[in-house]
Amino acid sequence: MALIDIKVPDIGDFDEVTVIEILVKPGDTVKADQSLLTVESDKASMEIPSSHGGVVKELRVKLDDKVKQGSVVLVLEAEADVSAAPAPSAASPAQPPPVAQAAAVAAPVAVASAAAATVPPALEVPAHEPTAVSGQLPHASPSVRKSAREIGVPLAEVKGSGPKGRITLDDVQSFAKSVMAGDVRTQAQTAKVPAGSGGSGGDGAALGLLPWPKVDFAKFGPIERKEMSRIKKISGANLLRNAIMIPAVTNHDDADITDLEAFRVSTNKENEKSGVKVTMLAFLIKACVATLKKYPEFNSSLDGDAIVYKNYWHIGFAADTPNGLMVPVIRDADQKGVLQLSQEMGELAKKARDGKLSSAEMSGATFTISSLGGIGGKYFLPIINAPEVAIMGVSKSTMEPVWDGKQFVPRLMLPMSLTWDHRVIDGAAAARFNAYLGQILGDFRRVLL
Ligand code: COA
Repeated sequence: MALIDIKVPDIGDFDEVTVIEILVKPGDTVKADQSLLTVESDKASMEIPSSHGGVVKELRVKLDDKVKQGSVVLVLEAEADVSAAPAPSAASPAQPPPVAQAAAVAAPVAVASAAAATVPPALEVPAHEPTAVSGQLPHASPSVRKSAREIGVPLAEVKGSGPKGRITLDDVQSFAKSVMAGDVRTQAQTAKVPAGSGGSGGDGAALGLLPWPKVDFAKFGPIERKEMSRIKKISGANLLRNAIMIPAVTNHDDADITDLEAFRVSTNKENEKSGVKVTMLAFLIKACVATLKKYPEFNSSLDGDAIVYKNYWHIGFAADTPNGLMVPVIRDADQKGVLQLSQEMGELAKKARDGKLSSAEMSGATFTISSLGGIGGKYFLPIINAPEVAIMGVSKSTMEPVWDGKQFVPRLMLPMSLTWDHRVIDGAAAARFNAYLGQILGDFRRVLL
């Protein structure tokens, strides 16, 4: 048994490379050719394989160390007569011959990188597939590992579909897609965003973001600290996920509701005694259902690579409550008239404010409307309520001069902001959705078409 130093071999044009991954630890038994560590230059990353089989006695490098040709990376107790050890199989033309006795040098294995074209030929040796070390490292080729590192995919959580369970690039990409779609949570996400944690950007580290600024506010003036309500914590965590994970776009438009508002006022006069007051939101729900029927992708959800179209129209509406935002759901809104919708909305909004909504009354929505019309403002960017793929935000209507082709006439205009998931919906469809919704609100008879 001989102790040999494993050194960084000829690494082509690079003076120094950085250790980015250490694949073994003292006590591990390694085979000849097995990758020991990954080093990276600004152009490529390379795996340093062992020139001999044996037991790792001592690591001489740590992550982020800079090493160069000849640096000793570890000490190996060679398992057999060192002079009989096999030459590294991934030898490049520029590789020096393996050195016997106490100074073995292994050939690096180049890993494909974005800048592969600039990698000197000496590094362009066939990538070999490292086998798992001590059963702990995922079985994946160097290029797949590099891609996973770049995307931020934890390889240990990816199921390999290749030979002997090897993780392929497709596996890594599918995993990333599932995380983005919210179908899968990485262990880091699960650990860092416990259910109900609003977290001041608590998951930033998992996303590679800067840590949330820690400021001693009391240094600048008097403060008062209050725990967030449970609802705010839950909705905060959901909003954060939806805001980050959905490639969302918002289209703004205006609808002329002059005639509809006149109809609403007269309807309320007629129904004064019933105790049910009709607000613009009830008409909006009805008009949105008609528009969702015409453009069904807005009433869908993503399920992996499939789009699930729903043949029911349950509409959620954002309700402002003393404890925070809640979204009660009106079921089968397509089967209900405006008066019934108004009545149910009133009841659900009261329950929400009293904290008495059941989870069933908040689930199953296919599309959500958020109305700030009773409060004020002009346009805002609503956040999609996943797994829905679109949300309509309406603001306060105002009288505006509108050109009718001959003159400006005063019209009551409703600002609408439609946010949609670009994975499912395209901008043209969103513009059509708003235009059609505007036509219905402009002439409500169209809801019958
Ligand atoms: N333009 C002008 N006025 C409007 C309007 C609009 N788009 N929408 C409503 N109004 C008026 C109503 O007609 C009513 O007027 P009135 O009292 O003179 O009759 C007044 O504003 C208040 O309406 P409101 O009680 O808010 O009823 P609503 O049906 O419009 O809304 C809720 C019901 C529950 C949705 C609403 O109370 C609420 O909570 N809105 C906030 C939603 C929210 O926070 N969204 C943001 C999420 S990020």
